[in-house]
Amino acid sequence: MGELSRRNVLKAGGALGALGALGVAAPARAHVPWTWSAKGSVVGTGAGVDPRWVWDAEADPLVASLLDRGDVPRVNELLRTWTKNGQPLPAGLPADLRDFMERARQLPSWADRRKLATAVEFNKKRGPYLGVLYGLASGMMSTVIPKEALAVYYSQGGADMKDRISKTAKLGYDIGSRNAYQPDGEMIVTCVKTRLVHAAVRHLLPQSPHWSEVAEEEIPISQRDMMVTWHSLPTTVMQKLTAWKVPIPAAESEAFLHSWQLGAYMLGVKEEYIPASWAEANTQAEQVLDPVLAPTTEGVKLADILLNLGSSVDGGILSKPILGAFTRFLLGDQIATWLKIPREPIWDPLLKVAWGPFIAVREGLLPFPLAPEAYWLFDEFLRKAALLFLSEARPISIEIPDTNRPS
Ligand code: HEM
Repeated sequence: MGELSRRNVLKAGGALGALGALGVAAPARAHVPWTWSAKGSVVGTGAGVDPRWVWDAEADPLVASLLDRGDVPRVNELLRTWTKNGQPLPAGLPADLRDFMERARQLPSWADRRKLATAVEFNKKRGPYLGVLYGLASGMMSTVIPKEALAVYYSQGGADMKDRISKTAKLGYDIGSRNAYQPDGEMIVTCVKTRLVHAAVRHLLPQSPHWSEVAEEEIPISQRDMMVTWHSLPTTVMQKLTAWKVPIPAAESEAFLHSWQLGAYMLGVKEEYIPASWAEANTQAEQVLDPVLAPTTEGVKLADILLNLGSSVDGGILSKPILGAFTRFLLGDQIATWLKIPREPIWDPLLKVAWGPFIAVREGLLPFPLAPEAYWLFDEFLRKAALLFLSEARPISIEIPDTNRPS
């Protein structure tokens, strides 16, 4: 935002719409006060501190010290071999890091193996929908979460979005895999590594020359930000599946939530901020996610990169117009306009008219396909999207950054 910092704009107040219309990074909206009660959390109790001012008290100083000591390249090299949850940590890690990781890899006492087994059922049945929803609902939504878009854009990974997206997709793939939290799975490893990555970003971004220009808070990725992003994932996905009338047994819905509650915990979110139920999640999301959605110049650029991803992978079926139309369909006209997504004369109306019946037929709720042609196209789309956003992520190694985006 040039000379004008986001903080100053905030102080000046107003002018949000005008900035948005100009395509300028809009200042974040005033924060809704934190009133969500820890009584609704997985542990049912907590101090009630606004998580906007809480980060990761354990990981942050540790990773800052690794960066200052110049240990990160060596640590990344060692951690490349650590891929399975049950695998011992590699020899040679600095002792303070090893101690932390041994603690951080432990599941909490409320982890429920039975629910995790049910989550596998859910993921198996709903895999194709999850591909589209993680990629186009959650992924595209992340570009209109200003703090996330800015952090991603100005951090090291922002310069190579394709690589970054596949790394982020790895988490979506790991959490949905059969053995996610079991010794032969990878979700715990992915979460612990990501927790270290986030801690590094908290140390590095404040040193970026761009950061003070655009950031609202000096230190990024607060616990509140973590929950905002979390809601763009499971909460949004479940809201969409419900709106589409996909029949989901209560036990599977609860199990899917549980796998994500554990995900939040393993990423370093404090238990008192993790919702215990979908009702609590929806209430928290209304408070922290809905009011912050807004366009930024950086987010628009990231969205454009995301929408172009399909063309290199498919023979046209996931090309930009279809991804754009799906984004509009999933996130609505307001967000599509912010992201400068053009209207699609064929795909926009087709999705509006045929998606509902397609789901109904697919779910066995309607006996005959009402639109056989669209049915085939949509099914192919689901298959390709699942491949693009989830399966492609397998061989990726998540590494701790040691610089910001080279500008
Ligand atoms: C890195 C997931 C919240 C900003 C990552 C990575 C994953 C991930 C898997 C590693 C991929 C990579 O190295 O590129 C998540 C999940 C979140 C969350 C599941 C919440 C549930 C956030 C939030 C922000 C953020 C709230 C910012 C406000 C970043 C940045 C990186 C990163 C800047 C590093 C990019 C780089 O390599 O430079 N995240 N994240 N994340 N995340 Fe998050």
